[in-house]
Amino acid sequence: MNKKYIMTPGPTAISEDVLLEHARPLMHHRTPEFSEIFSAVTKKLKKLMKTENDLFILTSSGTGGMEAAITNAFSKGDKVLVANLGKFSDRFAKISKVFGLEVISLDYEWGNPINPEDIKEMLDKNPDIKGVMFQFCETSTGITNNAEAFGNIVKNYNAISIVDAISGIGASDLQADNWNLDIVIGGSQKALSAPTGAAFISVSDKAWKLIEKSNIPRFYFNLLDAREAASRKPPQTPWTPGISIIVAMNKALDMLFEEGLENAFRRHAILAKTTQKAVEKIGLELFVKDEDARSSSVTAVMVPEGVDGKKITSMMRTKYGVQIAGGQGKLKGKIFRIGHLGWFGIFDTIIAISALEMTLKDLGYGFDFGEGVAEAQKVFYENSYLE
Ligand SMILES: Cc1ncc(COP(=O)(O)O)c(C=O)c1O
Repeated sequence: MNKKYIMTPGPTAISEDVLLEHARPLMHHRTPEFSEIFSAVTKKLKKLMKTENDLFILTSSGTGGMEAAITNAFSKGDKVLVANLGKFSDRFAKISKVFGLEVISLDYEWGNPINPEDIKEMLDKNPDIKGVMFQFCETSTGITNNAEAFGNIVKNYNAISIVDAISGIGASDLQADNWNLDIVIGGSQKALSAPTGAAFISVSDKAWKLIEKSNIPRFYFNLLDAREAASRKPPQTPWTPGISIIVAMNKALDMLFEEGLENAFRRHAILAKTTQKAVEKIGLELFVKDEDARSSSVTAVMVPEGVDGKKITSMMRTKYGVQIAGGQGKLKGKIFRIGHLGWFGIFDTIIAISALEMTLKDLGYGFDFGEGVAEAQKVFYENSYLE
């Protein structure tokens, strides 16, 4: 028997309570029973995002939400700015190019956060920029960007802000309205710990003005259709939604609010700190040097000299049953990433660190065996989120 643990930055493990909801007999989507759940989930997602803006649930993974933001908000040839600091921000640039936008890529060395002042400078230099895109949590490098500073800069220009909060929302505080974030995208399979397959997207009045005149061809992800369907009584979706995913999300959101958002953010921050200190204790180096920029969702760790990085993730999975994530793109084999978001607690972190230690020992890395686990216990004990 080799018990399996998912400890990636998404998809994340799903609780039994949420799985049971997901397994309920299917209800039809044009029924009062589903409408009630659909409206409740929409309301709860707005509460999670701290927004009064319109919010739509799309049947797609997070990338569909990113594509929806771009194809709805812009017109061919529009100039957009992408703060490019990892695999997912680069995806914003790629999607924008596919749909004929002119992309200015503000490139950062991977592992560094955005400097909001750079955004301001670019907007001053290019007043025709229509939109600025960035990741709240850049999952590929383990960075959390300062979304507050970013939104409050962009609000002073004609451009709209588009924030991919797919791996950050629910793990770290995001205040869409207070921070003037025009379009915010989330996903079901990250900190919500719900099944994969739903994205959600909030849209401000400033963004609607662009959407209403956008000329990029789109069909499935047309937010004008989504808005029309949502305005019906009771609210609808234009197409068949991911019914069971939405039912499961309802439970996942209830669990999050039962814990309390602030408590959930604190739990994530403590798990991140515990993970960081534990890996440092066994001599590993964190990929993100700026402590304040380290994500609460995922910790990126440098592969130590002389160890085959790809073997760390594969051995942890095959021998110990613990699935973590490797590096992406140019970080393949150079870093590995331990997720600690969603339905995740201290004993999950201890499992991750313990399996990592055993794997590193198998791979011949020299360190004081057991010290990482002991450090995780100590750091957690001193900062516990448990009563
Ligand atoms: C920050 C971020 N953006 C976008 C995505 C893409 O989401 P999906 O794989 O659900 O399409 C992910 C998923 O890992 C992510 O972490």
